[in-house]
Amino acid sequence: MFIRSAKDGREFTIRTPTAKDAEHIIHYSSTLFLSTDQVLTMPEEYTITTAAEETWINNLTNNPNALVLIAELAHQTIGLLFFTAQTKKKNAHTGEFGVSVHPAYQAIGVGRALIETLIEWAKLHPRIEKLTLQVFTTNTHAIKLYRDLGFIEEGRHVKAIKQAGGQYIDILQMYLWLADSPDQKKPLPG
Ligand SMILES: CC(C)(COP(=O)(O)OP(=O)(O)OC[C@H]1O[C@@H](n2cnc3c(N)ncnc32)[C@H](O)[C@@H]1OP(=O)(O)O)[C@@H](O)C(=O)NCCC(=O)NCCS
Repeated sequence: MFIRSAKDGREFTIRTPTAKDAEHIIHYSSTLFLSTDQVLTMPEEYTITTAAEETWINNLTNNPNALVLIAELAHQTIGLLFFTAQTKKKNAHTGEFGVSVHPAYQAIGVGRALIETLIEWAKLHPRIEKLTLQVFTTNTHAIKLYRDLGFIEEGRHVKAIKQAGGQYIDILQMYLWLADSPDQKKPLPG
């Protein structure tokens, strides 16, 4: 568990959740999906049960090639990040993540802290060399944060999103390459 200071001076923690956090994460995600149209899931599509959320948490936390993190303040979930590596031998060095922060706690450094924690974990991971993400081209705050952290644009999915009002939006594909170092990670055997 890590303790970090927000820009407004409050302290929040970052940790891996357990199945006991399922209800809190569901409540958090419901609030998030109601607050923004810059993510894929619409509020009415978010119908997960507590049991399914527990299974999701257990699957990710038991997978050495995945990471799930929550940020907490005053026993409330205020941020969520999840990463999973690809599963074929030829692409197991890459993986994609998603990140979000509770609308009441955005722009105080929580998202940055979650991604920095992922990057540190991935650097120490024996296999992960490339982190990827997808972001709507309209999500300017998120894109600025990703660029600040070193992520580079590598492609665009044209008109991949159609908003409820009919507006088409491109998805930006971004990546961070981790492994250009003398101890570059080894290929998988076989
Ligand atoms: C995008 C998101 C994850 C960023 O997390 P965050 O905790 O709000 O961002 P941070 O406070 O760590 O911001 C880091 C930088 O991004 C910029 N930024 C992020 N959100 C901002 C906002 N709402 N207003 C102004 N600047 C913002 C700031 O310039 C900041 O840079 P700085 O540290 O140099 O000042 C968060 O705002 C969020 O969950 N948004 C809704 C869901 C979403 O868009 N998820 C991403 C989908 S790809």
